[in-house]
Amino acid sequence: MVMGSVISSPQGRKAPAPRLAVLIIIVLQALGLSAGWSQELAQPRIEEETAKQQKIYQSRGVDVPDGYITNRGLSDYAGFLLAGFCDALAKLGTSDRWLDIGAGEGQAILDYYALDDDAAPKKCARSISKARAVAMSIEDRRTDAWQQLATSVGERIRYLAGKSLRHYSLEELGKFQIITDVYGGFSYTEDLSRFMDKVMNLLEVGGGFYTIVQYVHLEAVKDSAAAGYQTEMVDAAGRGVKVCSWLKKIACGKVTCESKSGWDPPTEQINIRKVCSDVSVPGMKLLKFQAGNPPNRRFQLEP
Ligand SMILES: C[S@@+](CC[C@H](N)C(=O)[O-])C[C@H]1O[C@@H](n2cnc3c(N)ncnc32)[C@H](O)[C@@H]1O
Repeated sequence: MVMGSVISSPQGRKAPAPRLAVLIIIVLQALGLSAGWSQELAQPRIEEETAKQQKIYQSRGVDVPDGYITNRGLSDYAGFLLAGFCDALAKLGTSDRWLDIGAGEGQAILDYYALDDDAAPKKCARSISKARAVAMSIEDRRTDAWQQLATSVGERIRYLAGKSLRHYSLEELGKFQIITDVYGGFSYTEDLSRFMDKVMNLLEVGGGFYTIVQYVHLEAVKDSAAAGYQTEMVDAAGRGVKVCSWLKKIACGKVTCESKSGWDPPTEQINIRKVCSDVSVPGMKLLKFQAGNPPNRRFQLEP
């Protein structure tokens, strides 16, 4: 969790000493002037943290921090995502499309394509026909196995790297029947509202988004707030909001959440089915961001 007051000054100006900055914030709060000023003070800190986050993405070999896992396969996806994911994947036809946001090495897609390989995971039902698949990752983690498959199946699989989801246009990416995200953009983005808007607009009507998020205020069961939330949401008045309650406000999304309080870490499994095309996602702003895998984030819903 990111703790404590924001102490950085806007870029280019001399940063006030921490105690002085805290004092300034207390005085501003007392005067009812805090919001705009403390946000202005928070911005350089967020920029510093997003720069640190970029270093995590670009890390290689021994520099990759513990827990930044980029090679989960289809069996892992089957275990993490809601059960409907495997059934939906098995139903895809050759002209359908699957996007994996935050694919890392793209191992889940490699496994999906390993149809005749006995070593391929059995956990996710497999169909004879294979959908087209797009792996997206900020950093390029393509392996030799990926290059070999790409050589044999050509354009049926694509690997997109070099930027995050928000920097692609809808026209560039096209539409998808299934979008997955296993510790990808949903857990890492600094702009969750824009991220979800893009995801919903990339889905075909009838298509589904499958993701998970850990250390959040769980929807269906009591959780221990004392352990701290990694992704935290508050309303305009500063009251806690559950991630799933926020997602349920998305127009044209039918949201299913399953709270796994017994998992270590406690996790929310999420599926959103797109039921109509007039998508609208409630906006929110970023209050806090601390680099990590995944980062700690605090968002405030717009009134
Ligand atoms: C911890 S790895 C997970 C990789 C893979 N899903 C797995 O489970 O092995 C995080 C992945 O999310 C990607 N990522 C984070 N934020 C993203 C965003 N906004 N758009 C696209 N990819 C993103 C990273 O580049 C990386 O590929």
